[in-house]
Amino acid sequence: MSLSAGMSTDLSAETSGEPAGDLTFPPGFFWGTATAAYQIEGAAREDGRGVSIWDTFSRTPGKVVGGHTGDVACDHYHRYREDVAMMADLGMQAYRFSVAWPRIQPDGSGPADPRGLDFYDRLVDELHGHGITPIVTLYHWDLPQTLEDRGGWAGRETAERFAEYAAVMYGRLGDRVRTWTTLNEPWCSSFLGYGCGIHAPGRTEPDAAFAAVHHLLLGHGLAVAELRAAGAEQVGITLNLAPVSGPDPEAVTIIDGLHNRIFLDPILRGEYPADVVERARRFTDWSFVRDGDLDLISAPIDLLGINYYSPTRVETRAGQPASPVHPGSEGIAFVQGEEEKTAMGWSVVPSGLTELLTRVARDYPGVPLVITENGAAFDDVLADGRVADERRTAYLDGHFRAAHAAIAAGVDLRGYLVWSLMDNFEWAEGYAKRFGLVHVDYASQRRVPKDSALWYREVIRNNGLRA
Ligand code: NOJ
Repeated sequence: MSLSAGMSTDLSAETSGEPAGDLTFPPGFFWGTATAAYQIEGAAREDGRGVSIWDTFSRTPGKVVGGHTGDVACDHYHRYREDVAMMADLGMQAYRFSVAWPRIQPDGSGPADPRGLDFYDRLVDELHGHGITPIVTLYHWDLPQTLEDRGGWAGRETAERFAEYAAVMYGRLGDRVRTWTTLNEPWCSSFLGYGCGIHAPGRTEPDAAFAAVHHLLLGHGLAVAELRAAGAEQVGITLNLAPVSGPDPEAVTIIDGLHNRIFLDPILRGEYPADVVERARRFTDWSFVRDGDLDLISAPIDLLGINYYSPTRVETRAGQPASPVHPGSEGIAFVQGEEEKTAMGWSVVPSGLTELLTRVARDYPGVPLVITENGAAFDDVLADGRVADERRTAYLDGHFRAAHAAIAAGVDLRGYLVWSLMDNFEWAEGYAKRFGLVHVDYASQRRVPKDSALWYREVIRNNGLRA
């Protein structure tokens, strides 16, 4: 158990540790944006793409706000050239995208469809042609439906198929893509997908959620082995982590365990945290963990991707039922501070990022960190061809300063990817929530860089902030 109550900070502070003013990042620090296949590509039935769990889920009445689907999304599959040119215009140095597994193996196994491979091949070449470094995420939630029908991540087979798919992708892109991440936010895949059903595949089985945690991690470990065997140099995983604080150290430890340590410990220490294992025993006997699995899961990685949006604050409250997203959390209430909220209702707390980065660097030393996502949804308005999104600019300014404060404190942070390049399909929230630096008019597919994008271009140009 690694989190002590003493590390909680006062989250009422609305600013980071860095004052306003000029501030420069280390040489070589990289800046860019991130997206995910299902959220932007569209072309859901084109070129042999198979059905994913998000196709099925988004068609299930009541699951996604407005009944929205990713069928068309930002039509990036057809517009990737103009999107890459736009990234270049905005000065981006790196671009994190995900590969849609069902474009490569429509049923999740067997021979790869050359049309799917060709798309990512063209995208990578286009990026390089514009001097933008591609960073590939192999799994950003669009599991082939056929694999879900055979048990999905609750079963071991999916982990094995995932490693085969990883090898296929490396075989095609490994000569031009240096940085690979296996999974995006396995906490969401397991607890939102299998535990409470807010995300695809929409299952509400806490036992399956814990099995999914393990099989996602195993899939990561098996994929790392495949990628290494094929010669990959930069391999990692992306976790959604949150600093947890509150007056009761035990409640803090419980939620930190269920949210952060359940992934950090197996990957970076080779074991599940004992307190989490005990706490989850009422849901699972953990018999899905086999000899050797944790060795695979804890094979060295070259970077840890961190997605940070908001901190978590908890309080002990008698009679409080368990949060559906954290099975085993009864008696603990999740509370919000007075801070500004984004359109998602998430508190804006830049100092939480400094806290998180310094904590990970302290408790899990030795692995370089990258912010693989950070950003905010606001109710943007396009007026006279312009989106004056000063709240997003302020959000990013605060978080960049918070990241800089962590670097100044000795954290080995290598780069920063803003979520997201453009407005897109925000999962269960559909298209209503806009996270983009670039506004998308879905009817015309017209892209308009918001003021925050133009501000970000200057940040990148200066490798830092000017007062
Ligand atoms: C995390 C996910 O990786 C991404 O897909 C999502 O859109 C953002 N956070 C915002 O919720």
